[in-house]
Amino acid sequence: MTNLCNLDGQIVAERDARIPVLDRGFLFGDSIYEVVRTYGQEPFGWAEHWQRLCLSAAAIRMRLDLDEATVARRIAATLAAAGSGDFYVRLVVSRGTGDAPNIDLAYANSPPCWVVMVRPLTPMSGKTARLAIVDRLRNDRRALDPATKSGNYLNNVLGLAEAKDAGATDCVMTNAFGFVGEASTSNLFAFVDGAWVTPRLDDGILAGITRALLLQFLPQAGERVLERNLTPGDLRRADEVFLSSTLRDIGPVTHVDGKPVGNGEAGPRTARLMGAFQEFVQTRLRTHDAPRWRQLVGDR
Ligand SMILES: Cc1ncc(COP(=O)(O)O)c(C=O)c1O
Repeated sequence: MTNLCNLDGQIVAERDARIPVLDRGFLFGDSIYEVVRTYGQEPFGWAEHWQRLCLSAAAIRMRLDLDEATVARRIAATLAAAGSGDFYVRLVVSRGTGDAPNIDLAYANSPPCWVVMVRPLTPMSGKTARLAIVDRLRNDRRALDPATKSGNYLNNVLGLAEAKDAGATDCVMTNAFGFVGEASTSNLFAFVDGAWVTPRLDDGILAGITRALLLQFLPQAGERVLERNLTPGDLRRADEVFLSSTLRDIGPVTHVDGKPVGNGEAGPRTARLMGAFQEFVQTRLRTHDAPRWRQLVGDR
């Protein structure tokens, strides 16, 4: 099946989609994005992704010129053209084409450029990871707040490359105070001293949508969960660790810095939670996300 791209309202094959060289996303990483997954034609967590996109836009002083329903209809049209199956949807909004390759916002006079990439979903749910705690720090909140999902991902690109050099599959980046932040494209939970611990938003991380859902879900599943500082030492002595993201859901971590977590396989609590979280997701999709989406795109 062809990967599709909706470029400012026109659906084309992804390989034929072109961005001008003066596009500020290309030149400066001056863009924001979201990655959403679908179950069939219905995106999961769309309302939360849209809300986070609006927060990212505000954080980088970008004025969004399209409303939620217009963007949702573009996504729905692209999904319909893509056919059946579950999809990966990447929504990218660049500040648009500048008048010159100049960083000054005074040169950014065009409307934003809206890109929706739709690809068949490569299942990653439950995929295991081996983590390396890398020396590279996560961006400081006062420099470029990791809470802003911008196109400036070089921090994560390099962190991941360094982890792979160390034989791991993903990195853990700490903040300037030495506390654990997150992995390259996932948040992190560790079972320490009888509770699941996940770093605080104030530690400088992306406010993951899966993370927020897990903060609701874990107590319902009978688990204690805390948002607090986590040190590299906590992570190394944790009984179980998992990553959370839209594409992974819950991804068990088998090793930290080459040492096994537990017995080096998905921990028993994590394994139990993975199935229960899928049920939570499916219930939410059926009762909340799918009806809202259909109403938004005008199917009913
Ligand atoms: C840096 C970072 N942290 C965490 C996440 C997980 O966020 P979500 O659960 O909203 O997919 C992502 C997702 O891309 C990410 O890029």
